Amino acid sequence: MFAFIVGTRPEIIKMAPIIRECEKQGITGLTIHTGQHYSYEMDKVFFEELNLSDPDYSLGVGSGTDAEQIGKILVGVENVLMNEQPDIVLVEGDTNSVFAGAYAATKLQIEVGHVEAGLRSFDRFMPEEINRILTDHVSDFLFAPTVKAKGNLLAEGVPANKISITGNTIVDAVHQNLQLAQKRESVLSELSIEKNNYFLTTTHRRENVDNKARLNGILKGLTELHYEFDVPIIFPMHPRTRKRVVEFDLALDGITPISPIGFLEFLLLEANAELVITDSGGVQEEACILGVPCITVRDNTERPETIAVHSNLLVGTKSDQILSGAKAMLQTPHKWSNPFGNGDAGERIVSVLTDAFKACGVEI
Ligand code: UD1
Ligand code: UDP
Repeated sequence: MFAFIVGTRPEIIKMAPIIRECEKQGITGLTIHTGQHYSYEMDKVFFEELNLSDPDYSLGVGSGTDAEQIGKILVGVENVLMNEQPDIVLVEGDTNSVFAGAYAATKLQIEVGHVEAGLRSFDRFMPEEINRILTDHVSDFLFAPTVKAKGNLLAEGVPANKISITGNTIVDAVHQNLQLAQKRESVLSELSIEKNNYFLTTTHRRENVDNKARLNGILKGLTELHYEFDVPIIFPMHPRTRKRVVEFDLALDGITPISPIGFLEFLLLEANAELVITDSGGVQEEACILGVPCITVRDNTERPETIAVHSNLLVGTKSDQILSGAKAMLQTPHKWSNPFGNGDAGERIVSVLTDAFKACGVEI
């Protein structure tokens, strides 16, 4: 039996292709939701849109400091795993849910597979970087999306026989849902926008939005983009960001903030945007896959493949850099090849695991 641990929006989206593949192959799966994300538009909407069964276990840990979240997840996941004794636990990404889930499993000597292994920003101030490193080093199966990610793992001494290059399941998720997303075109008229005549933005990284100067720089940059290019700036706002905008009393001049939206609506907005401005990991990847130019309001990225193919530019959080970065990206030819695989990552991951279990005579 496979146990899938999910906790946040991107984990649900990127784990879905693996859950789907297991269902197709008749492999028994169990989903444990930590409850790190819990608002309807950050959680349940993805289960509905991606047609996923409700989680078998919902731990309901909610928000808190890193230690509070990690501590509660450790205890909750340990409890479930002791009762269920799965053959393998799969985690995806770099959140507190991922690290705590992997750590609880490894302490019980249950094998761990880390999906999206080997990503590095080389910035240890990011909570995600710590989670990635720790998760990679307690995992038994490391599913690296790219050659670069595998190289990062080898450089840290992870044995090569634990690592498989599989592509990123976000490509599967985009391919599996893009057609369905086209049916959500009404979102364009609801927002009074036209295809290829608006910019789409998201920002939620802790180091950006919890820092007044950085968040202010980003918002000022977005305002300048609105006036310079005369386009709506559509901003589905993460709850962390919404909270900080209010707390820091920052202006949203020329920006159209909306609530976070479902994956299908978001894909549609991304695919038809003229430019994407983000600090999200998943959004950098999706823009690259969809052929939409992107600027990233950060000083580093764990997705350097997007920079290498020129789909993405790192611009930092100062308004003048955001403006000049946008101008540069809009002039770049929109032709690059997607470095994240063919959309068969889910199948490849399941096949690595089934082969490994078969080789040691374990029935899954
Ligand atoms: C987390 C991950 C981050 C990931 C992001 C995906 C960590 C350390 N961070 O950041 O890597 O990119 O999820 O979106 O694991 N809130 C709600 N409703 C929710 C969830 C959160 O209102 O459903 C609010 C709460 O005020 C909470 C804040 O958002 O305090 C932040 O949530 P949290 O899960 O701590 O971190 P994220 O910023 O979402
Ligand atoms: N996303 C979404 N609705 C939104 C904003 C983002 O469905 O309003 C999706 C997006 O398509 C991507 C994922 O959420 O697949 C990215 O999640 P997030 O930016 O929260 O986290 P990160 O990828 O940075 O960890």
